[in-house]
Amino acid sequence: MKKIVLSRQEIAKKVRELGQMITRDFAHDDLLLIGVLNGAFIFTADLAREIDLPLQIDFIRVASYGAGSLSSGTITFTKDVELPVANRKIMLVEDIVDTGRTIARLQQHFLRHGAASVHICALIDKKERREVEVHPDYVGFEVAEGFLVGYGLDFAEQYRNLPDVFHLENPAHP
Ligand code: IMP
Ligand code: MG
Repeated sequence: MKKIVLSRQEIAKKVRELGQMITRDFAHDDLLLIGVLNGAFIFTADLAREIDLPLQIDFIRVASYGAGSLSSGTITFTKDVELPVANRKIMLVEDIVDTGRTIARLQQHFLRHGAASVHICALIDKKERREVEVHPDYVGFEVAEGFLVGYGLDFAEQYRNLPDVFHLENPAHP
């Protein structure tokens, strides 16, 4: 069973607002958007088109979830960015910040590689489950709990193509 949590209209409106804020805040910067694959592929594509600035886009891929809905706790880099990051202003674009482990690790990774700054834009912040201290700079929605799918978010690689975000009530038996 799945219940709608965020409609495509709500998402589009919020993404437009995030794009406008980023446009204003980075008006004088040479921004590099880095989408975190796979979950943020749709969000990154939509957000990029709402930012009215010259910018570059790259992607990184990390695996933290395996095939289930529980975090494995370890993060492996399965695809690095290809553009140079030294002295760049980076905006990490993430689907969900949950425990915070993935995004904290990525922020640390790019700072260690000489980025001038690393900001975070997350579509969804699941604050209640935070295990490491990390505060996304731009947040679309705060969601208290539950496993979400759609708009890029998956359960066992399914549901990414749904245009809205749904709560999957029993991820083990969808
Ligand atoms: P964190 O390291 O615990 O913050 O995990 C973040 C990653 O787990 C995100 O990049 C998501 O891909 C995935 N994730 C967390 N919660 C959900 C969810 O409700 N649905 C789908 N993926 C999720
Ligand atoms: Mg992800």
